[in-house]
Amino acid sequence: MKPRHVLFRGRLVPYEDARLHVLTTTLKYGVGVFEGLRAYWKEDERELYIFRPHDHFRRLHDSLRVTGMDVPDGIDDLTERLTELIKANDLRQNLHIRVQAFVDNDDGTPDATGPVVVSMATIPMENYFGRAALDVCVSSWARISERSMPPRVKAIANYQNSRLAMLEARADGYTGAILLTHEGSVSEGPGYNVFVVRDGRIATPRVTDAILQGVTRDTVLQLASRHLGVEVEERRIDRTELYLADEVFVCGSAAEVTAVASIDRRPVGGGGAGETTTALQWLYDAATRGTLDREQGWVEPVYHPETSDAGSGSRV
Ligand SMILES: Cc1ncc(COP(=O)(O)O)c(C=O)c1O
Repeated sequence: MKPRHVLFRGRLVPYEDARLHVLTTTLKYGVGVFEGLRAYWKEDERELYIFRPHDHFRRLHDSLRVTGMDVPDGIDDLTERLTELIKANDLRQNLHIRVQAFVDNDDGTPDATGPVVVSMATIPMENYFGRAALDVCVSSWARISERSMPPRVKAIANYQNSRLAMLEARADGYTGAILLTHEGSVSEGPGYNVFVVRDGRIATPRVTDAILQGVTRDTVLQLASRHLGVEVEERRIDRTELYLADEVFVCGSAAEVTAVASIDRRPVGGGGAGETTTALQWLYDAATRGTLDREQGWVEPVYHPETSDAGSGSRV
């Protein structure tokens, strides 16, 4: 699991040396933001593709700006550093990549804006949920709201909300959770966006429904439009619609496209991945390996960039 090298304070350092002081401002006040992205190994091409790095790094910038932290590195620089890190670790397998940007001083005040440094670590990962459909509950915790925190970005502090929802779900025997907004409509899961399918129509909460603006969500919107000929409705979704749906699925860089088997112990459709979910899983796998929609510039090849036409970088 442990990579040989981690990017830390601008340098590649051995895994054991990527450490912070116990009085770090980040630990005291959660002054940090992060990203989780993926890279997929394609054996027949002997190539590793990073999926939508520019969009993830752009969101990292957005997170820094919204939380009032200094922005240290450009999007292209970050992509380059990640590629170097993967090469230095000589990784040729599916990966989850953890990127963090944090205030790098000891005992700072909560309004510290810098100095900000970026760390990156590459962790081998196959399917996060093992492709098993989830049994989720509607959480008793409401999703954080714009009135108190910025849900749209990936601030470390936001994840106390996700954590509480997951702890509650696990304690009650569920494998996932869906949080509602303060107004009571569907928002998202602790680490994934939510889609519902009914009578062939696909819907997902709007970005103004207190969701993280997911890169995978955007990928699914585009894949559904281009390949299934269905425009996903981005609209307010009531809790009742979860119970009435033919299919519900969640998506995220870690979760990929994962079916929901039941919600509050009520089976969804046939209880496994339905037709639309299965189709989107297939399309997502193909897009992440660079065999579909390559012209979108979603995949960034690590080992043979010169032979590829990908990598121009799209934008969410
Ligand atoms: C709260 C939350 N919502 C949604 C997502 C999905 O976002 P993405 O598809 O960009 O990984 C994540 C994962 O990062 C998340 O943590």
